[in-house]
Amino acid sequence: MNAALYRLPRNLKLDASTRLLDLGCGRGAILRNLDDQLQCDHPPVGLDLSREMLRHAQRDEGNPRRGAGLVQGAATALPFQDSAFNLVLCGHLVKFMDDVDVVGLFAEVRRVLEPGGLAVVWEFGPTGNPRLDAWNARVVSPRGPRPRLRSERTLKRLATDAGFEFTREADLRPFLLPPVPRSSVLLGRPPEDYTPLRLA
Ligand SMILES: C[S@@+](CC[C@H](N)C(=O)[O-])C[C@H]1O[C@@H](n2cnc3c(N)ncnc32)[C@H](O)[C@@H]1O
Repeated sequence: MNAALYRLPRNLKLDASTRLLDLGCGRGAILRNLDDQLQCDHPPVGLDLSREMLRHAQRDEGNPRRGAGLVQGAATALPFQDSAFNLVLCGHLVKFMDDVDVVGLFAEVRRVLEPGGLAVVWEFGPTGNPRLDAWNARVVSPRGPRPRLRSERTLKRLATDAGFEFTREADLRPFLLPPVPRSSVLLGRPPEDYTPLRLA
């Protein structure tokens, strides 16, 4: 798992009371790692569109809550009640979505977050150099559709369109693999003294 995510509990001052939802959880690696660190009172929930991914997540070694909290569904239509979570993660999920779907997704994230809750969003981002971005897009999606490499500014604008009042750059780093820059944003108000810890 990338170091930036491993340090989220410390950076966001999370504790066992965290009610965590991981959208596009894949094999559940982030979910398991954060649950191990926090020993969450409420089993964290991972949602993914892919049943195959969720089967892998269920089977993976070291999943202390095997299968519990894994839900199949679309992140743009969440099968959860309003205010059900206080932390929502959304990693590497929006690159193949158009802006309308991203706004819809962020609106759903806002709905399921309790007041004062926080969402962390990260995705492959642009470099500002069109030729390098075209190369990076092929690295990210060699055979699939062309991904959208959005800046933090664009992600924040889409979140504002979805109704989030507070947005800021999360500055999560480093992400080592693949070697493509990431855009990362916090939706909602982070702790007063939020200072992303970076490795040198
Ligand atoms: C690249 S993986 C990201 C895994 C992890 N979140 C991370 O950041 O490393 C993207 C995951 O999102 C899932 N996914 C794609 N579109 C989705 C959607 N609309 N709703 C829910 N999950 C989706 C895919 O099945 C895949 O498991």
